[in-house]
Amino acid sequence: MKKIAIFASGSGSNAENIIRFFENDARNQVVGVFCNKPDAYVLVRAERLGVPAFVFGRDDFYRTGAVSDKLKALGVDLIVLAGFLWKVPDDILADFPNRVINIHPALLPKFGGKGMYGERVHRAVIAAGEKESGITVHYVNGRYDDGAAIFRAVCSVAPDDTPETLAAKVHALEYAHFPQVIKEVADNL
Ligand code: GRF
Repeated sequence: MKKIAIFASGSGSNAENIIRFFENDARNQVVGVFCNKPDAYVLVRAERLGVPAFVFGRDDFYRTGAVSDKLKALGVDLIVLAGFLWKVPDDILADFPNRVINIHPALLPKFGGKGMYGERVHRAVIAAGEKESGITVHYVNGRYDDGAAIFRAVCSVAPDDTPETLAAKVHALEYAHFPQVIKEVADNL
């Protein structure tokens, strides 16, 4: 049984989708939701879905090792970032080599990096006149949105698309593909 931890900072629609996907999976289990925002809606989703949640602050993540200790106590095999906005510290990356993955709502390496999240990404894609956008699932390293790509899915950018309508197309790709990509990574650990 591979144990998965989900890190999220916001709404958690991807986290919910992933948790539901693995509810009937005999080989993998979501053992916790880790969140750096005490008021994030992902915590409401986790409680409703019966998944333990761990709220933490910067000291827990970057100084005391409390998050790292919790991951090890849970026996986590794979860390999944699903709308998590902090950089993962080097000690956790070292403890989980090629076992931290992230989803970005654009076709990296374009439209990624520090501060590029949520509607800002879709606004930048439209402003750049791109004809396509999509999602990139990638391994996490010490730089934002920079690790080796694992999976991409593409959608069109229509002339009348707004950041909101493009976000909806990209979210649809996330929900359709991310859980299966996670499963393929977990099953091959
Ligand atoms: C998603 O668009 C994901 O690609 C990005 O953060 C967003 C999280 O949305 N990394 P949600 O919190 O899962 O609804």
